[in-house]
Amino acid sequence: MQAATIDNTGLIAALVNRERISDDLARHLFSPAFDDARPELYAAADRVRRETVGDHVYIRGIIEFSNYCRCQCDYCGISCHNPEISRYRMTHDEVLETASHAHALGYRSLVLQSGEDRAYRVEDICHIIESIKSRLDMAVTLSIGEWSREEYAAFRAAGADRYLLRIETSSQTLYERFHRDSKWHERHQALMDLKELGYQVGSGILIGLPGQDGPGLIRDLEYLERLRPEMVGIGPFIPHPQTPLGNQPAGLFENCLTFLALLRLYLPDAFLPATTAMGTVDPIGRQKALKAGANVIMPNVSPVMNRPSYQIYPNKICQDDDVGKCQKCVQSLISALGRIPDFGHGHIRRSIY
Ligand code: 5AD
Ligand code: FES
Repeated sequence: MQAATIDNTGLIAALVNRERISDDLARHLFSPAFDDARPELYAAADRVRRETVGDHVYIRGIIEFSNYCRCQCDYCGISCHNPEISRYRMTHDEVLETASHAHALGYRSLVLQSGEDRAYRVEDICHIIESIKSRLDMAVTLSIGEWSREEYAAFRAAGADRYLLRIETSSQTLYERFHRDSKWHERHQALMDLKELGYQVGSGILIGLPGQDGPGLIRDLEYLERLRPEMVGIGPFIPHPQTPLGNQPAGLFENCLTFLALLRLYLPDAFLPATTAMGTVDPIGRQKALKAGANVIMPNVSPVMNRPSYQIYPNKICQDDDVGKCQKCVQSLISALGRIPDFGHGHIRRSIY
């Protein structure tokens, strides 16, 4: 089928019906020929979002507790191959103090994120989780990269509720091109293990990695449909000058919104965050995402002094903003859209699967 002959309204109706997407249509969806129809797709995703998961926007505070990382992802600014950033590692007490501060402001859902930092032993991570669970009544999500199945089981036993691990791309070739020290199948197996261990799992991909195309993105969508994670986080690839991909073009914001809208249509009751990366490449990127299917926002609650060192990509928003400022900011941006800010635990039962 030629792009010029494609009826966009008919195409969007087919997407709402979750029909299979051919390679030709996949190319069309991520090309300028689809630009005029994109607002219609976003509106369809917004309708499905409202009918399926309602108007609440779930707020989860992120603590970036260590920027040490043993991995060498070619796109990532905190890769072990970047000697130019200063490294920090928070102690148990510092993490707990940061969590208590977020708790005092009303946060009940916390994401503990770090590089793959083996200076923490399994017991250290478990101790942090146990302290937060016993002293503060908060849902705990881990975003700490790949560990072993036994280690995931230990974190789960210590009380962790959720685990975020992006597959980054469903293409083994692309994955292993940009992660020279990792195997795609191990990443995939980790996601299977996390599901089996009873975690609420979050995954996701990068949009605009060099070599990625429309059909590849649709294969990513199909992978995520089969995986059925509770949450899917996506964002544009943003070139970091101190990485091997520093000279590559950034992923397109509109392609992120298109993929997000497709996620809402094909995984209707998933938690879909309006990510910080989307807010970084477009000043109202998170608002646009919330109007194209998203229903989660994850403000940074880390100590401000650490934030400049956690530059996985450049120009990340909220570098100098204190926790209270970001809280008010996200509350008002959500309310301005006629939505309901929700600082709760954010556990909801699947409605339609
Ligand atoms: N641009 C955008 N996102 C990035 N990530 C890592 N590096 C970059 C970058 N340069 C994303 C990855 C990772 C998440 C924590 O951050 O998808 O899973
Ligand atoms: Fe940090 Fe808006 S979320 S200032």
